[in-house]
Amino acid sequence: MLAETQTRLRAGPQAPTDHAAMQPRASFPVLRGHAGLFSSFTFGQIGRLLAPLRDDVIAVGVIVGARPVGLAVGTLPSGSTQAELLSIAVAPALRRRRLGRRLLEAWQTEAHERGAAECRASYNASMSGRMALEGLLASGGWTSPRASGVVVVGRVGKMVDEVGTWPSIAGRLALPRSYAFAPLELSAADIEAVERYLSDPEAADMLGPIRQPEKLAFDYSIAVRRDGQLVGWLLATESHRPLVEGDADVPTVRYLEAYLDPAYREGGVMVAAYYHCYSKQMALLGRDSVAVYYTSYDSRPRMVALTLRRFAPIAERVETIFGASRCLPSF
Ligand SMILES: CC(C)(COP(=O)(O)OP(=O)(O)OC[C@H]1O[C@@H](n2cnc3c(N)ncnc32)[C@H](O)[C@@H]1OP(=O)(O)O)[C@@H](O)C(=O)NCCC(=O)NCCS
Repeated sequence: MLAETQTRLRAGPQAPTDHAAMQPRASFPVLRGHAGLFSSFTFGQIGRLLAPLRDDVIAVGVIVGARPVGLAVGTLPSGSTQAELLSIAVAPALRRRRLGRRLLEAWQTEAHERGAAECRASYNASMSGRMALEGLLASGGWTSPRASGVVVVGRVGKMVDEVGTWPSIAGRLALPRSYAFAPLELSAADIEAVERYLSDPEAADMLGPIRQPEKLAFDYSIAVRRDGQLVGWLLATESHRPLVEGDADVPTVRYLEAYLDPAYREGGVMVAAYYHCYSKQMALLGRDSVAVYYTSYDSRPRMVALTLRRFAPIAERVETIFGASRCLPSF
């Protein structure tokens, strides 16, 4: 279904249609329990969110003539007011008849009823359905899309091999003895340190290991310690997006966030932290598993520069990420 979708979208937008005449009778049920019947309207790992539907997943279907013909899926983590739209699709034969728009509205309404104050969507610059998605979001009153950062997608085996041979980096991969990469088991003093770091305006938009811990994949997330004290973290999550073309089911770990106390930057500690986690990922999920990390233009301009210079040549892909959002009216 996605291949067909992409081919059609590459061919460009279809001619405008007389919507009033052609709007089919449709219902937009909020899906509960198992929603596997709709899985052909999403892709890759997002499909796994459908059966069974977790509490933090918002899925709304489109039904025309008793047949599923579309789906919007996203998440609203518990305690958060930001819902993220992960995918939205309508059957090719029924596009440009306002079903997408009504589906988006139904999905937003459900997100709002579950406590969301804002909806967000982010997508790769090269996504084949980008024009249709941007048109849809604009017609639904979302903000204009803006480039928010860069995402690097690579096979861990290759990244670990290559980074280990970089002359300027290799020496730094052996950590000074005062540092340790430890499992994310936090004492009261650690939590205090995290809260202190997060209160810094530079880290204001970060999760830290304490906001939304349910998002984290603990096997690949670490605390950075210096002489036993927590001085940073590297956080990973399971990814729900197919990030390598034609390889949708390959295990993927997304490295969400890296933070280090400003006093200890420059020493290559963060590169060593990534190296440590990627090596562990390689041991647990295999050389061909995919590691993804995102770095934001706004908060990490130096990391973006390092990424483009150093990691782009050994990665499978480096993509600009765009994002758009919509505030939902308060109750
Ligand atoms: C994106 C998608 C869900 C839109 O569904 P749809 O039912 O065709 O959308 P609608 O008919 O409700 O269109 C609403 C508005 O969106 C915009 N729009 C929709 N498709 C568009 C396209 N191909 N190009 C430009 N604008 C488009 C238009 O402004 C449209 O209003 P208009 O028809 O009055 O001009 C559909 O194109 C689709 O399933 N695409 C494939 C899956 C995909 O790529 N999803 C996005 C990423 S997950």
